[in-house]
Amino acid sequence: MSTALSCMVKASGKDFTKDLEEENHSMRHLGILGLLPILSTLQSVLGGQPCVPLTFGHNSVVCVCNATYCDTLVPLAVPDLGNYSKYESSLAGKRLENSEGTIQKSYTLAGTGLVLKLNTAKKYQRIKGFGGAMTDAAALNILTLSEATQQHLLNSYFSEEGIEYNVLRVPMASCDFSIRSYTYDDTRDDFELKNFSLQFEDTKLKIPLIQKAIAISRKPISLFASPWTSPSWLKTNESPYGKGTLKGQPGDKYHKTWAQFFYRFLDEYAKYNLTFWAVTAQNEPSAGMITEFPFQCLGFTPEHQRDFIAWDLGPALEGSNHSHVQLLILDDMRLLLPYWAKVVLSDLRAARYIHGIGVHWYFENFTPADVTLGTTHHLYPDYFLFGTEACTGFLPWDKGVHLGCWNRGTQYSHSIIEDLNQYVTGWTDWNIALNMQGGPNWEENFTDSPIIVDPAKDLFYKQPTFYHMAHFSKFIVEGSQRVGLEASEENELESVAFLRPDGVAVVVILNRTPENITFEISDPHVGNIQAVSPANSIQTYLWKQQ
Ligand SMILES: *[C@@H]1O[C@H](CO)[C@@H](O)[C@H](O)[C@H]1NC(C)=O
Ligand SMILES: *[C@@H]1O[C@H](CO)[C@@H](O)[C@H](O)[C@H]1NC(C)=O
Ligand SMILES: *[C@@H]1O[C@H](CO)[C@@H](O)[C@H](O)[C@H]1NC(C)=O
Ligand SMILES: *[C@@H]1O[C@H](CO)[C@@H](O)[C@H](O)[C@H]1NC(C)=O
Ligand SMILES: *[C@@H]1O[C@H](CO)[C@@H](O)[C@H](O)[C@H]1NC(C)=O
Ligand SMILES: *[C@@H]1O[C@H](CO)[C@@H](O)[C@H](O)[C@H]1NC(C)=O
Ligand SMILES: *[C@@H]1O[C@H](CO)[C@@H](O)[C@H](O)[C@H]1NC(C)=O
Repeated sequence: MSTALSCMVKASGKDFTKDLEEENHSMRHLGILGLLPILSTLQSVLGGQPCVPLTFGHNSVVCVCNATYCDTLVPLAVPDLGNYSKYESSLAGKRLENSEGTIQKSYTLAGTGLVLKLNTAKKYQRIKGFGGAMTDAAALNILTLSEATQQHLLNSYFSEEGIEYNVLRVPMASCDFSIRSYTYDDTRDDFELKNFSLQFEDTKLKIPLIQKAIAISRKPISLFASPWTSPSWLKTNESPYGKGTLKGQPGDKYHKTWAQFFYRFLDEYAKYNLTFWAVTAQNEPSAGMITEFPFQCLGFTPEHQRDFIAWDLGPALEGSNHSHVQLLILDDMRLLLPYWAKVVLSDLRAARYIHGIGVHWYFENFTPADVTLGTTHHLYPDYFLFGTEACTGFLPWDKGVHLGCWNRGTQYSHSIIEDLNQYVTGWTDWNIALNMQGGPNWEENFTDSPIIVDPAKDLFYKQPTFYHMAHFSKFIVEGSQRVGLEASEENELESVAFLRPDGVAVVVILNRTPENITFEISDPHVGNIQAVSPANSIQTYLWKQQ
């Protein structure tokens, strides 16, 4: 087990609030912070309800929300030209703590230490957005809470007082995070899909919650759908799981029938006023190539996916009422890049139907971002890269829910920053809510989630991963464009910069070291921000450029 993946456990039974007080106390005596009022004007926390912290013996806290209380943010107001806004979360217990400071116009202090210089002449990809998945498990969990607690949970993710996700992934029928295995037509050999119908999980669980999320969001929410398995009667192994693929060959009735599922699903959701931004051709197509694979899957080689899209899925979507829906390939580990993209996208018959490439984060530590994502972008710059799934707690030696584990949060932000710096246009977490066990999951493959619900107590816990997602989702709005951020020297901070459509610059700084790191953000258009990145923290800086 690598230490980066584990979560240090503190002695349990500790009063964390006291820890935080001591932290604040010692901060007052710290040299560098004593200097700060001269350099910039710090204000105290700007409104919003604070986090109610609770420790479960892991190295940081969760924030507790119930029917009557939840931590919130006040609507984002970027200060007038000349000042900046900062949001900070830390292992020590800060959660999106907001402060404001003044941007120095004089350059007297410049160049004495680490400088991160914004270079807006260098422009890269535009952002689609950030979000999570409304799985059967997530919906079931949310609906076990009282109406008031549910509202706090949905507000936390989608409203202006929350972290404003604008992307939601919706599984097409069941996956491992379901309580049973089903598809939308399990009537054997129903090639005309006469018995196609949405299930209880759609109409009573997921759809009502997606509608509520859309209703409370002030931004459009982009939905995308992914299938795990086709009906068994279309599969070589006649089973939802294990090694199996579609029977026959692309262009035949098995493939045409499966392609129909996509637009029938979109037709049915449209009846509930839910229209989709995109679909992925298949969740983890490599899973169905593995003997004994334990849950719903459908195997495709890249050649098979290419031909299925060229002959069946592409024409089916184009000829349906959903020709505007974008199509993403891969939806699997980046280890398969650029190979997968080369096979599928170099075929013009398939490529004309495709818009993007979905990437899952699993085992990405073994596959450098530049040789997978970067290379793919440079080969196929017209096809966007998009993170379609990630979760912590999925490894056999580090499994399930770890309440308050900071390291799991930094695993998210580390991955997001790395991906964004390699042309990825958005990042989607997996289940938006799981129970205390990390389920339900019919196959008992439990994992962690940014929100863990405890129905017995009618409350939920917002994990460090929730706040790490927030540092991006809340601030890097759709249409933002990545710009250059150049470091004056080698350093251990991880960072990424954007320019929003409203002219606001955004810089995210992750510090995974146990050291406080002093640095300066230099924006040649505006001035310098004198900053400290505290040990084990993440910060988002925002300022107007004009
Ligand atoms: C970092 O700063 C905090 C106060 O913000 C202080 O308590 C801590 O001792 C410092 N850590 C190091 C390694 O200097
Ligand atoms: C909800 O949380 C708040 C803040 O921690 C607390 O004061 C209140 O008693 C809780 N309500 C219930 C019903 O537990
Ligand atoms: C910046 O913030 C300081 C302190 O709140 C305030 O006095 C000053 O007027 C602000 N400057 C601008 C340009 O808004
Ligand atoms: C399929 O549909 C037919 C007629 O619409 C109905 O009689 C039959 O019960 C359905 N079968 C299943 C398994 O739902
Ligand atoms: C869909 O939206 C239309 C117009 O906004 C509304 O009249 C209709 O009731 C909605 N239908 C459903 C099923 O929500
Ligand atoms: C598209 O929708 C319209 C109106 O609901 C319907 O009449 C038409 O048959 C649909 N077309 C296709 C190709 O599904
Ligand atoms: C467990 O779930 C994760 C995430 O859904 C998946 O990547 C992994 O393959 C699963 N492992 C097993 C053994 O089912």
